[in-house]
Amino acid sequence: MSLLRVAHLSDPHFGTTRLEVVDGLLNILKEIQPTLVLLTGDITQRARANQFKAAKDFVDLLGSAAVIAVPGNHDIPLGNIYARIFHPYKGYENIFKQKLEQNIVLEDLCITCLNSTSRWRHVQGDFQNSYLEKQFQESYSHCKVRIVAFHHPMDCAKHVDDKNLLKGRNKAIALFERHNVDMIVSGHIHHPFISLSEDRYPHIQRKMILSVAGTCLSSRTRAGAPNSFNMIEINTDLVPSITLTRFDMDLWFHFSPKETHRFSRDATLSWNHDLSFQEGENLTEYPRQ
Ligand SMILES: [Fe+2]
Ligand SMILES: [Fe+2]
Repeated sequence: MSLLRVAHLSDPHFGTTRLEVVDGLLNILKEIQPTLVLLTGDITQRARANQFKAAKDFVDLLGSAAVIAVPGNHDIPLGNIYARIFHPYKGYENIFKQKLEQNIVLEDLCITCLNSTSRWRHVQGDFQNSYLEKQFQESYSHCKVRIVAFHHPMDCAKHVDDKNLLKGRNKAIALFERHNVDMIVSGHIHHPFISLSEDRYPHIQRKMILSVAGTCLSSRTRAGAPNSFNMIEINTDLVPSITLTRFDMDLWFHFSPKETHRFSRDATLSWNHDLSFQEGENLTEYPRQ
């Protein structure tokens, strides 16, 4: 059995963080020891050098976990028009030393990182024509599970957030279905949410898991959504399963498991919510080595 543990963090917005929250997150990540830390954008508040430096200091403290990231709309300079047009991702690339798009393979898992931001848009996310086709040209069929990560969400809980969903989401979800994507993870709205694609995209036959992480560190939280992150455990056995546990921060800056969902994949490659799995069933297992 192969079990991979990915800590999905989003929207830290360095420049708006509190030291106690940073320490609380570092402490729980140290205990959980994820194989990989995946950051889905808005790493900084205003793409300033000192904010990227704070992000680098945080990443350096993550120990042996590999770290990969995609940019968010806040990671592109806003006021500096020259920088925005000619080198919008310089700060991000200086820290993460990685391409804006890439496929990460971890044993039987492939994580496809995409860039849904643009120097021409301040907030909304989209992919340019032919961008997605290009990113999916190479086949990763040898991987048993494929996760796609980008900043702007595919689904949300509140109507007020509909305007923040990825603009070309209907085209994108059709392509993800064709390429056997299993799960799509995002951030941006600072409101954690998990669903199956059939809820918002009933015309798509194969059900995929759509997950949005809240803000892991920023003081820019929303009502009812404290700082949080998601622990995603991927079992790439013959019958793959994915367990997602959301960790919320309490008043004492401790992150602890709050909600767990388990999904399994059927013979048609559709994902199903395992409703027999009791929420809270495995919560006492955290933190664990
Ligand atoms: Fe954000
Ligand atoms: Fe954002």
